[in-house]
Amino acid sequence: MRLARPLLFKLDPERAHELALKSLSATSAALVPAAGWLKVRDVRLEQELMGLRFPNPVGLGAGYDKYAVAVPGWARLGFGFCEVGTVTAWPQDGNPKPRLFRLPEDEALINRMGFNNDGAQRTAARLGRMRDGGGVDIPVGVNIGKSKVADLERAASDYAESFRLLRPHADFVVVNVSSPNTPGLRRLQDRDRLAGILKALIDADRAMAPERPIPMLVKLAPDLGDDLVDDAVDLALELGLAGMVVANTTTDRAGLRAPAELAGQGGGLSGAPIRARATALVRRVAKRAEGRLVIVGVGGIMDADDAWEKITAGAALIEVWTALVYRGPLVAHDIAAGLLDRLRAEGARSIAEVVGSATDG
Ligand SMILES: Cc1cc2nc3c(=O)[nH]c(=O)nc-3n(C[C@H](O)[C@H](O)[C@H](O)COP(=O)(O)O)c2cc1C
Repeated sequence: MRLARPLLFKLDPERAHELALKSLSATSAALVPAAGWLKVRDVRLEQELMGLRFPNPVGLGAGYDKYAVAVPGWARLGFGFCEVGTVTAWPQDGNPKPRLFRLPEDEALINRMGFNNDGAQRTAARLGRMRDGGGVDIPVGVNIGKSKVADLERAASDYAESFRLLRPHADFVVVNVSSPNTPGLRRLQDRDRLAGILKALIDADRAMAPERPIPMLVKLAPDLGDDLVDDAVDLALELGLAGMVVANTTTDRAGLRAPAELAGQGGGLSGAPIRARATALVRRVAKRAEGRLVIVGVGGIMDADDAWEKITAGAALIEVWTALVYRGPLVAHDIAAGLLDRLRAEGARSIAEVVGSATDG
């Protein structure tokens, strides 16, 4: 599978992504007999978090499987969980193409997709069929965002609409207020606006299943000032959220090697250049939350060492996106296997034991 990279890199990045996704969803069934060989199953990697069992801590970041077409495939590739979406209440085409760019010198991507997705209704139906079809033995998170047509003042009811439709098919829900590609979206990270949205979702959740609240997480931007980060953590704790996904892509372009015509593309930067910033943010959130939130660390994780850095900074779970492009489809398996080696080398008994063990680093 590693041989595919030179071929895929000859293609336009979005076309290559579509091909990778299509082959994963089409081969899902054919892979059934082989299911298992890529799964790294080891009790030391397992965790019970938010009332869910995670076979390993390596997840798929939101935005790769926006249409939720390959969910059983992610489990077969060795992922311990996946996050589908972002899904919005209304179907959207997203921004004009080209809107995804490779920066190979930096092991990075810039995207301004703009939440292209099928809308909550169709995605909910697809997720329902997929889960009924079996083969989904990992937690599935659904990431929801604001429809472009909904103005900021109507954001809470727009998110709630998606929530109501998708909740029955999700193990956890991630509230995305941090994409740089929907105008004004990141302003929803302000305390009052965020509180309005989260309260609307909590009300919707209580109305749907009073005895069984769904784990809810908020996804933050890496560009937030420290005060806003602290506010968001305090709010999450006040409202009893399950956790935070830290972090989304950045609008910062400092230190890139790529030529200006690439580095200067508008959108969100992901991959190796955002690793350190995302880790610092994980560490800040972990310190403030003092173990009361599950932190999903994401941003620039390319290998097991990078995953270890996020985990010891305080992330119980980690996710990858850009690494799938530069390290290939076996990356989840490789990271999970590498984490086991690292546990052995450090003399640690389990992942849970090392979460947050280097919060001063
Ligand atoms: C092409 C592309 C599309 C993305 N779409 C979404 C999205 O729809 N929702 C979201 O919350 N994050 C989205 N992300 C952000 C990723 O989930 C992740 O937070 C970010 O890329 C940092 O991780 P990475 O360095 O491993 O890629 C997207 C990232 C990329 C590269």
